[in-house]
Amino acid sequence: MDNILEARGLNTFYGRSHILFDVSLAVAPGETVCLMGRNGAGKTTTFRSLMGLTPPRQGQVIFKGRDCTGQPSHQMARRGLGFVPEDRRILGPFSVRENLELGRIPSRQGTWNLQTVLEHFPSLAGMLERLGGTLSGGEQQMLTIARALMGNPDLLVLDEPTEGLSPVIVGTLKDLVVRLKQAGTTILLSEQNIRFAMAVSDRVVVIDKGHAVYSGAIEEFKRQEDVQKKYLAV
Ligand SMILES: Nc1ncnc2c1ncn2[C@@H]1O[C@H](COP(=O)(O)OP(=O)(O)O)[C@@H](O)[C@H]1O
Ligand SMILES: [Mg+2]
Repeated sequence: MDNILEARGLNTFYGRSHILFDVSLAVAPGETVCLMGRNGAGKTTTFRSLMGLTPPRQGQVIFKGRDCTGQPSHQMARRGLGFVPEDRRILGPFSVRENLELGRIPSRQGTWNLQTVLEHFPSLAGMLERLGGTLSGGEQQMLTIARALMGNPDLLVLDEPTEGLSPVIVGTLKDLVVRLKQAGTTILLSEQNIRFAMAVSDRVVVIDKGHAVYSGAIEEFKRQEDVQKKYLAV
């Protein structure tokens, strides 16, 4: 089947600093693809390039067959790209319920609504009236993912979802991502946590100093101990 997302030869800059060098990656419908790399490798910049937050100076972003390079992030969201940024951005003065409602995109219909989202996030069901600002880091991470699903995305993009979370919460998050996969969600995530990536991904792309240096199926990646040692903290 055709890829839902293709990044082709992205070159992205912050001012004069050249950060991404010809980065390409693709995600097929139903797949979970993990972009792996150390701190500063260029994972967030890749996702910002896809979302039009830091448009690439060269290269293309093809989403659902259409060239969407440099389109503003709200348009990408409306086209079905659900982005969960690494800093999570929960609205502190708003309740959990309000945060979820804010994820709705009126023009996008699908299976996700408040009820189906809460079935996948039972912990949120018991705290709908709590203010976002009072949630723990793990609860906030669950809420941002749940909020992105409320927009019925065709592709869910998670930037380092396990960052800063305790091992117990990482385990909960792993089970959640596996269940979302089983429900048919297409996911692109970034990670430094190799064990988490291996537990949830179908395919891995490794980025180092702004270059995509490896790409392979998860079963192959598991055997690539040299790649893991060279480019990831193991
Ligand atoms: N706003 C910015 N201005 C200048 N350089 C930046 C900015 N954000 C990130 N960088 C640099 O870009 C590189 C890639 O960063 P980033 O994409 O955040 O990596 P990762 O998400 O893999 O940790 C790093 O060298 C980082 O210092
Ligand atoms: Mg990052």
